[in-house]
Amino acid sequence: MKSFFYSYKLIFAAIISLFIISCSSDNNSSDSGDTDSVDENKSIEIFSWWTSPGEAQALQALVDVFTDDYPNVDVINVSAELGHGQDAKTVLNERMAANDPPDTFQLGPRDLQTWIEYDGDTSDNRLVSLDELFKSEGWDKDFPREVLDVVSYNGHYYAVPVGMHRQNTLYYNTSLIKSSEIPTTIEELFTLAEKLKSEGITPFAISAGTGGWTLEIAFFSILAGSQGAQFHSDFYSGKLDMTDDANVAKLTAGIDDYLTFLTYTNDDAGDLGWDAAAKLVYDGDAAMYIHGDWATGYFTSLGWKPGVDFNAVPVTGSEDEFIYGVDAFALCKDAPDEQNAKNFLKAIGSPEAQAAFNIIKGSSPVNPNVDTSEWNSLAKATLEQLKNATVLHNVEVNQFSVPGATAKDAATGIADQLLNLYTGDITKDEFISWIVDNYKAATSGE
Ligand code: BGC
Repeated sequence: MKSFFYSYKLIFAAIISLFIISCSSDNNSSDSGDTDSVDENKSIEIFSWWTSPGEAQALQALVDVFTDDYPNVDVINVSAELGHGQDAKTVLNERMAANDPPDTFQLGPRDLQTWIEYDGDTSDNRLVSLDELFKSEGWDKDFPREVLDVVSYNGHYYAVPVGMHRQNTLYYNTSLIKSSEIPTTIEELFTLAEKLKSEGITPFAISAGTGGWTLEIAFFSILAGSQGAQFHSDFYSGKLDMTDDANVAKLTAGIDDYLTFLTYTNDDAGDLGWDAAAKLVYDGDAAMYIHGDWATGYFTSLGWKPGVDFNAVPVTGSEDEFIYGVDAFALCKDAPDEQNAKNFLKAIGSPEAQAAFNIIKGSSPVNPNVDTSEWNSLAKATLEQLKNATVLHNVEVNQFSVPGATAKDAATGIADQLLNLYTGDITKDEFISWIVDNYKAATSGE
């Protein structure tokens, strides 16, 4: 089916190209005359897991900026065709394993190593270095250093970052909670939760139906809010001495707060994905939601006005910290249409694309040349916090959880344990021992 589709497209593209060559010798595109303008009548295939409300529209905004410049290039959005982001990830893995790559795909920095050292083979790099693009666009100078670091591997850039999401975000439904009621300490947050619970409102929405990653977001946000941004950051980046009982005691206190938080969440989390949990807040069934700020895109796509119907602030106690994740797109080795894939990557790093994308997605642009002066108050407050946070911490490397593993496997490691803790498959003490033992092994260099 696929090969028929491709042959059909190739024949079609060839006919169109012949037609253009024979009809016009000075058919200039609107481009600057560099190599960008070649290869116009083609298609590129992109993979992404953005299929939920808000995300899908934001992705389309990126595509639109590209197709404005390259109207004859058909962008095949595989995730939209498959209908579910998780399916897109599965199909991508199968395609890569069969040496049948798309042109470009979405990834997080945690995934870089798994593609660059494919299947653990350091000589099998499935991505193409984007150093030239970063240089020609000035991104190597303009983009924040922290973000450049997480999209590079062994000194080379491998993915174009399109936005930064704050993960330690506390959402609330403003018809259930007034801004003045938002507390400043975790203890007061639990007092507020108790009050909501006595009124029959679920204080916090949570989901656990798509693995433990959603719990991981809540866990690290509460840990930061409970024990302070610096503790979270040091802990996360492997800088703590876990042979020191005082550090274990702080970690334990943070875990206790997380477990208290869980007592204020909905019972059906195991059946829900992140967007269904957000819907509980939208429907007024839950008052708050600790999640990455892509939920902004979800709420606004349902018609809610940011700062009016809902609001978002850093999780109580974590105001000093901006815990962020980066979304990026990479270029596949042996991409069927490398030139247009490069043109796509160039477009999505531009101020224009990042302006269109991030305001829909709920994230903050990576390109500093985006004009944000007309953005809504919530988006501006997030940008302000990003600028002023004393601790800027990404969530990409937490190898303490599975010493020696890739960043991806390590992330899955802690997420799985949080899911086990949630379902009662492990006890709190087992969870703590798992972390402390792995942490000691990872930081002692064993
Ligand atoms: C990505 C977000 C995305 C979310 C849910 C996160 O890993 O960084 O961009 O919206 O997953 O799909």
